[in-house]
Amino acid sequence: MNILDIIEKKRYKKHLTYEELEYAFNGYLNKQIPDYQMSSLLMAICINELDEEEIFALTEIFIKSGEVLDLSDIDGVFVDKHSTGGVGDKTTMVIGPIVAACHLKMPKMSGRGLGLTGGTIDKLESIPGFDVDLTFPEFKKGLQEIGFVNVSQNEKLVPLDKMVYALRDVTGTTESLGLIAVSIMSKKIAGGTKNILIDIKYGNGALIKTKDDAYKFSLLVKKIGEKYQAKVQTIIDSMNIPLGNNIGNALEVMEAMDILKGKQGYLTDLCLKLAANLISMGYNISYEDGYNMAEDAIKSGKAYQKFLEFVKYQKGDITKLKVSPYTLEVKSREEGFLKDINAHKIAKLASILGCFRQNKEAKINYEVGIVINKNIGDYVHKDDTLCTLYVDNKNIEIDEESLKCFKIEGGNL
Ligand code: URA
Repeated sequence: MNILDIIEKKRYKKHLTYEELEYAFNGYLNKQIPDYQMSSLLMAICINELDEEEIFALTEIFIKSGEVLDLSDIDGVFVDKHSTGGVGDKTTMVIGPIVAACHLKMPKMSGRGLGLTGGTIDKLESIPGFDVDLTFPEFKKGLQEIGFVNVSQNEKLVPLDKMVYALRDVTGTTESLGLIAVSIMSKKIAGGTKNILIDIKYGNGALIKTKDDAYKFSLLVKKIGEKYQAKVQTIIDSMNIPLGNNIGNALEVMEAMDILKGKQGYLTDLCLKLAANLISMGYNISYEDGYNMAEDAIKSGKAYQKFLEFVKYQKGDITKLKVSPYTLEVKSREEGFLKDINAHKIAKLASILGCFRQNKEAKINYEVGIVINKNIGDYVHKDDTLCTLYVDNKNIEIDEESLKCFKIEGGNL
């Protein structure tokens, strides 16, 4: 077999066999295929997509690249959720503690940032000391004792996803339904959970752009789940505005903590909805009962307590979480109702500030980001602060870029 023939086949929209996919991807895992050839194959896949058979084959190859967690010696009911990616999505850090406070177990494997969408692992690493690379015994102990652990793909758990994910992030090859399905479902199956909720986001701030593709994706992950006897539920939501007010790694951890402490709003509602679905799936109870349990977990302070236990168990020191001391306020130049906050433009702004990677070796700045000070529908006066930028250098000039994120209409009514 020859990698050039395989790249060329995909370039001409031809079907790749299990053996060909295995040759290419395991070759990449074993460092026999270099980054540039894998990038080229990924780009051909992004342009011409994988068919269903190829997606099933590649999911299996990804799972087999590492071990599958055996959780049979741990008591309890296991649930897991994964988001397809969106701007400001910090739902995992809220939902994990909620379901753990309701005595479910959530063994979570996440990724880093992908393209212009942040990743839970980068967000957690903004907490000084936080360890995303637990050993199997540490992972299981945390799950048993706390009920929620969150690790990264690693050399033992879906190592192929770790490598391919990092390459997709910096080669413009994030937006393939097939690759997203393979990446997510291989992590979920290897994580050992049979109750899986996939939160599918579509829109200008998401990896999946259209509603049609979101529905296609939903069918796809359910079919993959069936192959592994896993129950997969999906929630489909648009993602044209950022999720919540904070974008940027440390800032998002702070917002997740605020929600766990009782902050209200659209993002809290979404987190409760996701948690309610997981609780209802795990305990086989109604959605309403699941919702009440999730709400109680926040109101009683138990979910916030779980968050603190979880961070401490993974060696994070939450008292040292910090954001940049340099801030710039972006002031409105017009008056009217805030009609839109463009998630894609906000993500680009966050990227300029240093929230994401530009190449595999790049370090991201955990302390920078954006706090959006107004909500959709608010009346904005001239000189009101639209957003606050946390920057690493006071001399940065990005007012124009920032103002393009906000659409204000209907002033002087
Ligand atoms: N989340 C993942 O884990 N992988 C993707 O490809 C997209 C979102």
